[in-house]
Amino acid sequence: MQLSTIYESVEEGLAKIEEQFRLLISSQDNTFPELHRMLGQVLVTGKIVRPALTLLAGKFYNYNLQKLLPMATASELLHIATLVHDDAIDKASVRRGRPTINEVWGADKAILLGDYLFAKAGESAAATGNLRVVRLFAQTLETISSGELNQSFSAFKLEQTFDQYLQRITGKTASLFAMAAESGAVLSQAPEESAQILKEYGSNLGIAFQIVDDALDFVGTEEEMGKPVGSDLAQGTITLPSLMLLERYPRDNPIKRLFQNEGDRQENIKKAIELVRNSEIIGQCYRVASDYCARACQGLDRLPDKPSRQALLALTEYVVKRKK
Ligand code: IPE
Ligand code: IPE
Ligand code: MG
Ligand code: MG
Repeated sequence: MQLSTIYESVEEGLAKIEEQFRLLISSQDNTFPELHRMLGQVLVTGKIVRPALTLLAGKFYNYNLQKLLPMATASELLHIATLVHDDAIDKASVRRGRPTINEVWGADKAILLGDYLFAKAGESAAATGNLRVVRLFAQTLETISSGELNQSFSAFKLEQTFDQYLQRITGKTASLFAMAAESGAVLSQAPEESAQILKEYGSNLGIAFQIVDDALDFVGTEEEMGKPVGSDLAQGTITLPSLMLLERYPRDNPIKRLFQNEGDRQENIKKAIELVRNSEIIGQCYRVASDYCARACQGLDRLPDKPSRQALLALTEYVVKRKK
């Protein structure tokens, strides 16, 4: 199923987020056109999975767009802020098919714009007037930052386990998916049990989503993804495909050589990608991701039988089929 079909019941809300972005871009002080231009560069929507989660989760009980919209906007703004920082850290030149902030304006400006966007996201979360979701927002930002820090401290380290990987992606990615879903539940007065089911759904979906992203870093194309591929190894980031490769060839393999600075860097990266592509590893990664999708769906039948339940189920299928 296509994303646009999955999003059908929340189309109106999603269109309003884009409207809000256009407002944010154009309502900037005319005396500061540079900020206006930077915002224009990044406030374009990608797959908008996170705000869609907030709105879909909000569909089970009292769908109140006035409350849900600022939170859905906050989750996309928070996501974009982390991407602006992530691209500066990775020195990535393309995102969503467009030049990154660091590419056009340099890393310093990217860090400052990222901060600006984190603040805007916080302001938007506060506009819900709901203390629980504001707290959730702050906690999520804390968790994402610590996940990214953890990844940075683990760079170029060979001794890593699946559990450490899982912990890292739960922090840097799944926490935001969980926040998006839980906040949608909270803002629509869902009973606590349902809020927990939706939070768990978001978390497991987020884990699957990141595992697929990590697989696509080996087998995807920049053209489809709109961002560089093959970049995780270049950053020294061990993800599930490289964990599996290290497990397969414990004695000698190109990742080991890359991390120990032996031989040609580019050649090692190329070899590692080739080895992964010519093995069963990607298929195994997709099986792990599908497993997390199945976990995500586990509690859904305890939610009211609404069209958004089908949408959440379809979203788990989309996540393991996506090419971008
Ligand atoms: C990219 O997220 C960062 C990851 C968590 C892998 P998305 O793949 O959702 O990016 P956009 O929003 O569609 O550009
Ligand atoms: C997601 O991971 C990063 C954040 C949570 C900010 P990636 O590093 O894999 O994201 P991409 O691949 O650059 O989009
Ligand atoms: Mg990155
Ligand atoms: Mg990635």
